[in-house]
Amino acid sequence: MDFNVKTGDPDKLRSACVVVGVSTPRRLSPAAERLDKASRGQLRELLKHGDIDTGCGKTTLIHNPKGRIETARILVVGCGKDKKLSPKAFTEITSAAAEALQSSGATDALSYLTELNVEERDLAWKVQRTVEASRDAVYRFDEFKSEAKPPKHPLRKLRILVGDRDAVNTAKEGMKRGIAVANGVDLARVLGNRPGNRCTPSDLADQARALKKTHPALNVRILEEKDMTKLGMGSLLSVARGSRQPAKLIVMQYNGSETSENPVVLVGKGVTFDSGGISIKPGAAMDEMKFDMCGAASVFGTVSAVAELSLPINLVGIVPATENLPDGDASKPGDIVTSMSGQTIEILNTDAEGRLILCDALTYADKFDPDVVVDIATLTGACVVALGHHATGLMSNDQALADALLAAGQTAGDRAWQLPLWDEYDEQISSNFADMANIGDRSAGAITAASFLARFTKDYRWAHLDIAGVAWKSGKAKGATGRPVPLLMQFLAERTRDAS
Ligand code: BES
Ligand code: MN
Ligand code: ZN
Repeated sequence: MDFNVKTGDPDKLRSACVVVGVSTPRRLSPAAERLDKASRGQLRELLKHGDIDTGCGKTTLIHNPKGRIETARILVVGCGKDKKLSPKAFTEITSAAAEALQSSGATDALSYLTELNVEERDLAWKVQRTVEASRDAVYRFDEFKSEAKPPKHPLRKLRILVGDRDAVNTAKEGMKRGIAVANGVDLARVLGNRPGNRCTPSDLADQARALKKTHPALNVRILEEKDMTKLGMGSLLSVARGSRQPAKLIVMQYNGSETSENPVVLVGKGVTFDSGGISIKPGAAMDEMKFDMCGAASVFGTVSAVAELSLPINLVGIVPATENLPDGDASKPGDIVTSMSGQTIEILNTDAEGRLILCDALTYADKFDPDVVVDIATLTGACVVALGHHATGLMSNDQALADALLAAGQTAGDRAWQLPLWDEYDEQISSNFADMANIGDRSAGAITAASFLARFTKDYRWAHLDIAGVAWKSGKAKGATGRPVPLLMQFLAERTRDAS
């Protein structure tokens, strides 16, 4: 899909559809006002008769508008009654517009929605959000359909209109960022949606090599099981033992900062299928455990988007990748393994495998002398119970880092919510036979999982994002969401702003 930023009048530009906002009760945005005049009052007439719904995110499509108007359709989007929109309302409006355009038959459109006033957000943000919402609306995953059925008239081109020439450059900045984030989100969604047999640890390693081809600025290194053995990664390797697919530790390095600045390290859980292992999961919805590499997918998406934007930062992406399957050689409940850190772990439940692979990757992360480390993982069902499908669970050993991530999520519309990491929780993972157990009791499962990881991240500032509830949707529209790529991109973009 093509995007473009322009200036011009809604009645004079030629297009298949022009998109404008109207608020309750009958407040026309400037572009809507102009179209109303040019159509000899058609919009006000329709409003008067109740034929345009001005509720927030409601859309009305007008074919062949009257008067001297160069466009074939007008899409009126309701903006509700507030004079200033909340960022969330604007996102709803621009998403609704994108969905409606996609089924309108128009293959190109002009959007005047950036003229709407949004609280605490600037033009660049509005443009970025418009791009992300439009790309989200056109995303489809039909890689494995033998006969893909694309929409007959898909939206191919969106021109985003701004007030004057001065605004064009700002808007183009927002557009560029929006496209990069959307590309990152798409990559994360594609990887997440691929089934376990077509997205193995080796496939993920190939994906990293492919990224290096597109972005030569990246350095990619794949550690094999023998390398991991040498490093003493007994915990990660214990999970891989149950699988015939060799585990991979994927390392992607991007140096965009001219200084020798300490990098941000992202560590993404890459369990390409989680059956639970010997502590096997029940059959219902087990297919969804192909999404257990969505943390890894978000690292791929973020690294790729950062490279696309040539952000002036140093970034390392680390992905421990393995399957978790039951086998004659698989770990058994009660087994004790030694992690790369030297700490021993009693595996009381083989289904708590995410933390077992992350702990060794987190120890390895210290080699890069990180400024901060953020791990991203579909780690616990307990996090879904706590926060549902709306917020990522955030836990951290550094409040400033936690605050920066929370703020980034807020700005990006990809929110996280913090949970505490108190000593009381840490006590829940004590073991009779080893330094720690890999599970606690039934309570506070999201936090005890983070407490486990915290024992491996004492040497640097670290945050953990539990994305079990947000990384994919179940039900009819089942599929990966690409979250939290928008949050991570916002977090990294803010760091470049702070530095300058
Ligand atoms: N990948 C799962 C977590 C998960 C479960 C994500 C459901 C999304 C939906 C993880 O490996 C797991 O199995 N965790 C266990 C931990 C338990 C054994 C302490 C869980 O949450 O049940
Ligand atoms: Mn599991
Ligand atoms: Zn898992």
